[in-house]
Amino acid sequence: MTVWRIAIVGAGPAGLYCIDAMKKRGIPFQIDVFDRLPTPYGLLRGGVAPDHQKMKRLESFYEKLLADERVNFYGNVVVGTDISMQTLKNYYDSIVVACGAESDKPLVIPGHDLPGHYAATQLVGWYNGHPDYSELKWDFSAESVVIIGQGNVAIDVARLLAKTRSELAQSDMPEPMIDALATSAIRDIHLVGRRGPVQAAFTHMELQELGELADCQVVIKPDDLKLSAACQAELADNRKAQKNIAVLEALAAAPVRETKTRIHIHFFKNPRELVGTDAVTAFGWTQTQLVDGRAVLTDIQGEIPCSMVFRSVGYRGVPVPQLPFDASRGVIPNTAGRVDEASVPGVYVTGWIKRGPTGVLGSNKPDSEETIGTMVDDGIQEPAVIPDTQHLVSVLEAKGVRVVTESDWYAIKAAEEAAGQVLNKPREKKITRADLLDCLSS
Ligand SMILES: Cc1cc2nc3c(=O)[nH]c(=O)nc-3n(C[C@H](O)[C@H](O)[C@H](O)COP(=O)(O)OP(=O)(O)OC[C@H]3O[C@@H](n4cnc5c(N)ncnc54)[C@H](O)[C@@H]3O)c2cc1C
Ligand SMILES: NC(=O)c1ccc[n+]([C@@H]2O[C@H](COP(=O)([O-])OP(=O)(O)OC[C@H]3O[C@@H](n4cnc5c(N)ncnc54)[C@H](OP(=O)(O)O)[C@@H]3O)[C@@H](O)[C@H]2O)c1
Repeated sequence: MTVWRIAIVGAGPAGLYCIDAMKKRGIPFQIDVFDRLPTPYGLLRGGVAPDHQKMKRLESFYEKLLADERVNFYGNVVVGTDISMQTLKNYYDSIVVACGAESDKPLVIPGHDLPGHYAATQLVGWYNGHPDYSELKWDFSAESVVIIGQGNVAIDVARLLAKTRSELAQSDMPEPMIDALATSAIRDIHLVGRRGPVQAAFTHMELQELGELADCQVVIKPDDLKLSAACQAELADNRKAQKNIAVLEALAAAPVRETKTRIHIHFFKNPRELVGTDAVTAFGWTQTQLVDGRAVLTDIQGEIPCSMVFRSVGYRGVPVPQLPFDASRGVIPNTAGRVDEASVPGVYVTGWIKRGPTGVLGSNKPDSEETIGTMVDDGIQEPAVIPDTQHLVSVLEAKGVRVVTESDWYAIKAAEEAAGQVLNKPREKKITRADLLDCLSS
C-alpha cells in the first residue's frame, strides 16, 4: 500500500487534529506539519489566556500527536512566502491548510484611527508572548478602558487587565508583561455589548471567573437584567443563556467591596464613535433595542470617558497566496473541507480558516475529521512529483530559511521550562523570533 504524503500548513489545534483523524483511518501516511512560527500549537500557545493553565495542558495531547514517528514538525516556514502552495504540492499528495484566522475584524466608526484604539488581538498576542506582538509598547496609564464586544476573548482581556501581580504570577505570562499589567493605572474596565444579556456571546464559566478576582468588583445595572417578554421567550430555549443569566444575577447581587479595579458590564450599547482630537478621550455609544434579536439603534446616546479602547469583535482569516478567498467571511471557500475552485489540486482546509473564527479547541476535532474524511474519499488525485521531505528542507535552507525541526522545538521548550522553574511558573517564554532561534544550535 502506498504511503499517503500529507503536508499540513499550521500546527494549531485544527492541523494537529488531522493527525489524530489519519491515525484512526489505518491508512499508511507520512505527515509533515509546517508552521510560520518556530513553535507549534497555534492559539493554544498564542491566544488561550496565560492564566488558563488547565487548558494549556492540552499541549501534552498535541505533543503526543507530533511525536508519532510518521509525523514531522517544520517550524519557521511561512507557506505562501518561503514556499508557494504550488511548490509545496510537488512534494505531497495532499495538503491541508489549517492556518487559522490571524487578523481581526475591523470596526470602522468615526475616530477609529485615533491613538488609543487597538484590536484585542494585539493585546492577546502581546500578553501571550507571540513574537508578532511581543515588542509592542503599551501605555497603561489609562484609568478607564473600554472593551467593545462580549465574547470570551473580551472576557479574557477584561480579566487579565484586572488581575493582581500575585494572580498573574501563577500564569505563563512573560515577566515583562506581568510587570506592565501589574503596575497599570487601570481602575475601570467597561465591557460593552450591543445586544442584551440573553444574546451575549460569552459563556458562564468565563463570566463566573470575573466574580472571583482578588481585587476587582463586577458592576452590572440591575435594570439591564430585566428581560423583555421576547428575551424571556428566547431564554426559555437557550441553556447557555440561562447559565449566563444566573451568573450575571449573582454578580449583580454580590456585596459591594472596596477594590482597586471595577469591571462594568454594559448591554444595549452600539459603538457610535471614538471621541478625541489627538487621542481617544471617550467611547460614544447609541442605545439599542432588540428587534427579532437584532440590535436596532434608538435616539439615546451617551459616552464613556476612557483613553484606551480594545475592539474585541472577532478574529478574521487572511488569504493564502494561490488559494481562493472569501473576503466577506475571511475563509477559504470549501465543500466539506475540499477547497473550491483551487488552482492547486489536492488542497483541503480545516479549522478557523475553513469555518470562520468561532468555536473552542475541541470544536476543531470534528472539523478536521470531516476534512480528512473528504480527503480520503477523494483519494490521491495528483501524486507528489518529488516525494522527498529532505529535498524540500534543503531547498528551504538554501533560501536562508532556518527550518525549526521537532528536536529544535524540544530545545526551545526545555529552555523555556528551565527559565520558568527558576520563577516558579510553568515556563518563561522566549518572546522574539531571535530569542527563540537563539535556543538552537546553528
Ligand atoms: C484569544 C483566544 C483565546 C481562546 N481561548 C480558548 C480557550 O480558553 N479554550 C478553548 O477551548 N478555545 C479557546 N480559543 C479558541 C481556539 O483557540 C481555536 O478554536 C483554535 O485555536 C483554532 O484552531 P486553528 O488550528 O484553526 O487556528 P490556530 O490555533 O490559529 O492555528 C493556526 C496555525 O497556523 C499557523 N500559520 C498561519 N499562517 C501560516 C502560514 N502561511 N504558513 C505556515 N503556518 C501558518 C499559525 O502560526 C498557527 O500556529 C481561543 C481563541 C482565541 C482567539
Ligand atoms: N475560554 C474559552 O473557552 C474561550 C476563550 C476565548 C475565545 N474562545 C472562543 O473563540 C471564539 C472567538 O471568540 P471572540 O470573543 O473573538 O468572538 P465571538 O464569540 O464571536 O464574540 C464577538 C463579540 O463581538 C461582538 N461584535 C461583533 N461585531 C460587532 C460590532 N460591529 N459592534 C459591536 N459588537 C460587535 C459580538 O456581538 P453580537 O453577538 O451582537 O454579534 C460579540 O459580542 C469563540 O467561539 C469563543 O468562544 C473561547
